[in-house]
Amino acid sequence: MIERTLIIVKPDGVRKGLEKSIIRKYENAGLRMVKRKVLTPTPDLLKKHYSAHVKKPFYPYLEKFMSSGPVVAMVFEGEDAVATVRKVTGATDPAKADVGTIRRDFGDMELPDDDRIMMNLVHASATKEEAEKEIKLWFG
Ligand code: CMP
Repeated sequence: MIERTLIIVKPDGVRKGLEKSIIRKYENAGLRMVKRKVLTPTPDLLKKHYSAHVKKPFYPYLEKFMSSGPVVAMVFEGEDAVATVRKVTGATDPAKADVGTIRRDFGDMELPDDDRIMMNLVHASATKEEAEKEIKLWFG
């Protein structure tokens, strides 16, 4: 089924100049970008986007990291876009992501202060429902 899903190239991905390489990975999987927007996310937007994580101990670090600079929000469209994007993106922890995925091929980890935030280059919607919600949130 033709679906749409949201991708965010996070501040680490933008700083490393990886936007084009990341887009190419999704295009090579048969998807096409239909929307793109560059912005520095506000804490308010991030609290809505990460509502499932707001109460977790790592959330303050996640918010600080995600609002530390510009991100690129994009909508990709194609056959089974949600699952295809998840596969190409790889596991949350870059060290556990399969070889060939974005997070494994381009990712690393950093250890700020007393907590660890996974700087994993991209966010990808987990389900079709989440994708619809997130596309509305980021693109209105
Ligand atoms: P993302 O796919 O954007 O969804 C939530 C983000 O929180 C995740 O990628 C990571 O950047 C971060 N994250 C998730 N779990 C942890 C964790 N246990 N420790 C630190 N950061 C995490």
